[in-house]
Amino acid sequence: MAFFEWHDGMSVGAPLIDSDHRALIAIINELHDMLEVGQAVDRTAMANHFKELVKYTQYHFSREESMLRAAGYAQLNNHAKSHGSFTQFVYDMRNRLTRSIERRTAEEVLEYLKRWLNHHILVEDAAYKPFISQNPSIERAGIKFGPGLAEVRGDEPMGLAAAE
Ligand SMILES: [Fe+2]
Repeated sequence: MAFFEWHDGMSVGAPLIDSDHRALIAIINELHDMLEVGQAVDRTAMANHFKELVKYTQYHFSREESMLRAAGYAQLNNHAKSHGSFTQFVYDMRNRLTRSIERRTAEEVLEYLKRWLNHHILVEDAAYKPFISQNPSIERAGIKFGPGLAEVRGDEPMGLAAAE
């Protein structure tokens, strides 16, 4: 079983956002896997992977915000603030990792990331579900922003047929 598992209850009703969330979860799992293999923590490799997490998290949050804007979502500002503080946290952790890190600290950071993202998807993202769910014009706003994270990362071709 993976460190962080996506499940159907996490769906926000927009395939593109769900797919992005899965890709972010995959990156967190990859970071976790980096702690499992070997004895010493490879700080450089972890810091580089954290950099990827920062980059893709920002990319995804911007997409989500452009979709919420298209939906005229009243809570957009608060939602964006929450995105901003999380992005800053991931960025700070990345800087901390480049200096020095103990395995335990890395494990705690990953636990925190997992808890935050899980809570964000299940509570804060779930709150906008009724406003964007099954809405092709909002899904199109998300597609216009750019390809799915999985595709950007080269994980898998995105199945966007459902959004057409
Ligand atoms: Fe969000």
